[in-house]
This record gives sequence, structure tokens and C-alpha cells, in this order.
Amino acid sequence: MSYIDIEYPTEKQAFYDTLTEQLKLYTDGEDNLTAALANASSVIKLAFPDANWVGFYIVDKARDELVLGPFQGRPAVTRIGYGLGVCGTSWKERAPQVVEDVECFMGHIACDCNTHSEIVIPLFDGDGGVWGVLDMDSVTEAYFTNEDRDGLIRAISVIERRLRGEE
Ligand code: SME
Repeated sequence: MSYIDIEYPTEKQAFYDTLTEQLKLYTDGEDNLTAALANASSVIKLAFPDANWVGFYIVDKARDELVLGPFQGRPAVTRIGYGLGVCGTSWKERAPQVVEDVECFMGHIACDCNTHSEIVIPLFDGDGGVWGVLDMDSVTEAYFTNEDRDGLIRAISVIERRLRGEE
């Protein structure tokens, strides 16, 4: 398998259709968590030129924390407590977080001083439990919109279904 660079459409619906197809393609037949999330973080990072960090945090049930998973970007904090930071808040509230300005998010955990905005999408298992989050940072303020939130939920559902063995 060799990666072929593609040009993403600018129109959001078409952009997320393409991203969804790319995620399907590069995780095809893979039910191993690390392998699927490693390629997913690469595919997503390539699609967002202004994203300086794209990766996953996985729920560590024994320690009630998120632990760093596959990612693209600078080294990051390895553990995040339940309800802490943007990621822990998304986990606790079971809801996406769209942060236009990280300086204004109380408790934001800074990993890269170039980051200005962030989006976090919770990932659900078949029983409705959160098993991890997708975290994306951008150097641009207010880079992520609610349209991106909805598009990412749709695109990342490929991975959720893949890991449940449904696709
Ligand atoms: N900013 C995140 C921490 C992880 S880094 O962005 C990679 C947070 O507040 O949870």
C-alpha cells in the first residue's frame, strides 16, 4: 500500500465525504486499535494544513484517565484526568468541544504554545461508553467550526464502526 496525495475539496460536505473515504481506505480491514488510529491520525493531519496536532487519547479504565495514543505532531502530555482539560471535559460530558481560543477555555492543558484553537470529539463503543477522544489543535484562532464538528463526527464514525467489527 502506498499513500497517494489527494487534493481536498474546499466545500465542507465534499471535504468530509473525501475525508471519510480516505479514513475507510487507510484503515481498511484493520481492527487493531493502534494501527487503525495511527493511520487515522496521519490521514486527518494531512487533510488539515492548519492543524499542528492530531491524535487520540484512550480511556485507561484502571486509572480513570485518558492516556496518549497514536498522534501526529509535537510530543504531548501523556495522561489527562477525567473532566480535566478540553479532552477530559469531552470525555466527562460525552460531547464534542469546539474551542475557538484555548486561552479562554478554563483548565486548557497546553502542549504546544503555537496552538490557538482546538476541537475534541468523543469516541463511543457499541454500548454508548466513551473509549477515547480525537483531539485536534490548530495554530489559527477559531479554525474549527460546528460544521467541522459534525463532519468529524461523521468521518470518525468509520473508525468507531471498524473497531466494533461492524465495518
Ligand atoms: N489541549 C488538550 C491537551 C492535549 S494537547 O492539545 C495534545 C486538553 O486541554 O485536554
